[in-house]
Amino acid sequence: MNVRNILMSAAMAVSTAAIAGTPVYLDSSAPLEKRVEDALSRMTTHEKIRIIHAQSKFSSAGVPRLGIPELWCTDGPHGVRPEVFWDKWKQAGWTNDSCVAFPALTCLAATWDKDLSHLYGKSLGEEARFRGKDVLLGPGVNIYRTPLNGRNFEYMGEDPYLAGKMVVPYIQGLQKNGVAACVKHFALNNNEVNRHYTNVKVDDRTLYEIYLPAFKAAVNEGGAWSIMGAYCLYQDKHLCHNPRMLNDILKGEWGFDGAVISDWGGTHNTGEAVTNGLDLEMGSWTNGLHAGASNAYDNYYMAKPYEDMIAAGKIGTKELDDKARRILRLIFRTAMNNEGGFGSMNSEEHYAAARRIGADGIVLLKNRKNLLPLRNLANGKVLVVGENAIKMMTVGGGSSSLKVQREVLPLDGITAALAGKARVEYQRGYVGDVSGEYNGVTTGQNLAESRPAEKLIADAVAAAKDADYVIFVGGLNKQSGQDCEDSDRKGLGLPYGQDDVISALAAVNPNLIVVNVSGNAVAMPWADKVGAIVQAWFLGSEAGNSIADVLTGKVNPSGKLPFTFPRRLEDVGAHAMGAYPGTKRADSDIWDLSYDEGVLVGYRWFDTKKVKPLFAFGHGLSYTTFEYGKITADSKDMTADGKMTFTVPVTNTGSIAGAEVVQLYITDNKASVMRPAKELKGFDKVFLQPGETKNVTFSVSPEDLAYFDADKHEWIAEPGKFTAHAAAASDDIRSSVSFTLK
Ligand code: BGC
Repeated sequence: MNVRNILMSAAMAVSTAAIAGTPVYLDSSAPLEKRVEDALSRMTTHEKIRIIHAQSKFSSAGVPRLGIPELWCTDGPHGVRPEVFWDKWKQAGWTNDSCVAFPALTCLAATWDKDLSHLYGKSLGEEARFRGKDVLLGPGVNIYRTPLNGRNFEYMGEDPYLAGKMVVPYIQGLQKNGVAACVKHFALNNNEVNRHYTNVKVDDRTLYEIYLPAFKAAVNEGGAWSIMGAYCLYQDKHLCHNPRMLNDILKGEWGFDGAVISDWGGTHNTGEAVTNGLDLEMGSWTNGLHAGASNAYDNYYMAKPYEDMIAAGKIGTKELDDKARRILRLIFRTAMNNEGGFGSMNSEEHYAAARRIGADGIVLLKNRKNLLPLRNLANGKVLVVGENAIKMMTVGGGSSSLKVQREVLPLDGITAALAGKARVEYQRGYVGDVSGEYNGVTTGQNLAESRPAEKLIADAVAAAKDADYVIFVGGLNKQSGQDCEDSDRKGLGLPYGQDDVISALAAVNPNLIVVNVSGNAVAMPWADKVGAIVQAWFLGSEAGNSIADVLTGKVNPSGKLPFTFPRRLEDVGAHAMGAYPGTKRADSDIWDLSYDEGVLVGYRWFDTKKVKPLFAFGHGLSYTTFEYGKITADSKDMTADGKMTFTVPVTNTGSIAGAEVVQLYITDNKASVMRPAKELKGFDKVFLQPGETKNVTFSVSPEDLAYFDADKHEWIAEPGKFTAHAAAASDDIRSSVSFTLK
């Protein structure tokens, strides 16, 4: 039991002793709603106000008089953030808050493996529970709309179906520990530039088909206990107190009974916050900044100003009771949850989970003449080039930045894996970012380098000439303007002249493998010149081991891209339409950003407009080969209330075991509205021994065929012909079958 839990139990024992009988709210076997009503009935207005806003950077008050504990939040989606001071962003300097960093969520999405998503949530939940955290600020499921978005690495890709399926087990695994997911950032926070000022204009069809489904799955299937509002605006109202998004859709249509938590500093107005669906205000600076830290929290929009409004009779307490109920529910589900266990931190199981998820999410994009896996080394020379081979990536990137107990660098992972098999040498190749600090956490690495760019390239080229293999490890990093919160990238290209380094290496050694570490697509003008391309993400504590596992063939790659790699930025729907980053209003700071590409996001745009991507959504190679048999349907027709099952046999035709992500896409052959050329409606990851065949089945119902009719405000599946495609990638359909919706 950690210190906080001990203190909490003691406090509860003392204060509840003063209450006659056993209060229902303390009886964990009583129904949740009874407990909530009981607790609420005992609380004063002031106590209710106290629990709906922050009392420190990451906590809100409980009700000490009733033995109801505080609520503690923590970032974030990839690991448990280190402790900061009560009222400062500075490090508190704890020596026991180093964690395991799990791979970024783009990597998790790239596994297309729901079991691994559950393992991820479970492991992270154990770490959070051990640290005494009640709410984990993640996962994020904002749709990948532009490769410039600095926060794409924290999300699950461009497809609402994939993100929706992958987010559910994460939440379930996490919440089993009595730690709430706080799914973020609801919604339409699809870029970082002007994030506090962007007013998104999106039609209802696009909203319901593209931007909401993963959140809806998180709430209705995952059972998420909390959700975080986004910074930006929609219909001219901030999303942390947005009547349509929070009251009508989330709490109305979806019946969400959990708490809406503001993003830190995302609350702007008492009246709106009170009536438009916000339940817990966090991170506001408000006039507390000027009035001093001592009363900062009392001056939050949902603190004294709200209480004063109630006292003056300007507003009733209906909204307050609803908010307090939701916070009590959250506290009972987490801080007062007896079932969650004690959790654990930095266990070897957690490292093993991180390593496995990392390796299974790595995507082999290209492998000319089976250059990979590395083999026949015979004590030869392997040259590793590139800054990302030696740079810690768990520090930086914004609120998801971590303080890790250990981080295996790519160069170290590769060197260890090749020990006794090859001589590993290293060359820097380019200098990118030599800093290594976020919010007071420093990597302690000294990446200083004095050679000029030409010399770095010349040295790398000289060393590459006689190497059996050259492994370039580059890509993006977590610096502002790259894969980092609060800024977007300036372009699709790789920074720091890496294209020149890669081209120079390719010119002298055909066995060049490019390992791209990023959470976003990057331009690869040299793609045809190199032997192999591996998409590695920000992989966390076990990064180097996960990468080495794949390069050496210890793990047969099975990841597939959760978003499209375009050839050029202009090929992406949002950019082709000139719909980024919007237009600043003449009379205010607001930027209007209209999602003019509509539902044609990601591969939906590429397919429908017949634009060839560099690497398609769903693409990923293996060291073995898979043959798809013909897809069959269990009937020719689907009835309006029926289901159909599609079956496709898949055989491992190579000589090693491997896993294949089989994808099912559906085309509406003829529709009364524009529809994307095809849409993902099923996937399954199958593990096959050499020579083994398995039938993969997909169940499809009329809802999977529907589009959202904005006028009628309902999903419509139009009768007529559809085609189901079994595919290895969105641009690699292996066989198709037609059917009719009656
Ligand atoms: C981010 C959130 C994060 C919060 C708390 C905000 O700036 O947008 O994702 O959870 O800070 O650190």
